[in-house]
Amino acid sequence: MKLSKLIKCLSLGAIMSFSVNSFAATNDIVVYFSASGNTKIAADALAKKLDAQSLAIEAKQVYTDDDLNYRQDDCRANVEMKTPDVRPEIANNLSAVNDKENVYLGFPIWWGTAPRIIQTFIESYNLEGKKIYLFCTSGGSSIDRSLSDLKSLYPKLHFIKAQRIKLGSADADIEALLAK
Ligand SMILES: Cc1cc2nc3c(=O)[nH]c(=O)nc-3n(C[C@H](O)[C@H](O)[C@H](O)COP(=O)(O)O)c2cc1C
Repeated sequence: MKLSKLIKCLSLGAIMSFSVNSFAATNDIVVYFSASGNTKIAADALAKKLDAQSLAIEAKQVYTDDDLNYRQDDCRANVEMKTPDVRPEIANNLSAVNDKENVYLGFPIWWGTAPRIIQTFIESYNLEGKKIYLFCTSGGSSIDRSLSDLKSLYPKLHFIKAQRIKLGSADADIEALLAK
């Protein structure tokens, strides 16, 4: 191997191991569900600020535009929100959350509250003893009802704070979420 190529490989390795190690060193993780991309933008900005990993909750059955068409009474998302015990399956492994103390959990507001797949996530991993920070994106609804709903559904969990992130003022909203 040429010297210049070897140097390139070594630097790439150093960069990669630095990013892996920097995630390992933090107690924070961002876990989010995003059906149409907005919450992903907020989650990635938050993760960048925290220097933490940002992990998407992936639905086993991906939500199509028809599934999300809330003007249609019987679209999949509406049916799920009207059915308290439905738990949409998650496709991916999110066990990285097990090693973290602070979980930043993000979602879009659906009918005033968190989508059911957030309950699937909460019920699939042991979040007891962790500090949970909620964030959302929405068309205008606040996150307050999500916080009170999740608190009463999961009284053993420790929800610290909740913040709606408006994409137009994401930096300020992220600061508000992170402010002690
Ligand atoms: C089924 C459904 C219900 C929704 N209900 C609300 C709502 O009650 N209040 C609100 O402000 N926005 C509501 N929205 C809009 C989303 O919260 C908003 O577009 C969000 O940013 C989408 O995030 P995402 O792109 O990460 O999926 C709803 C969207 C869908 C698909």
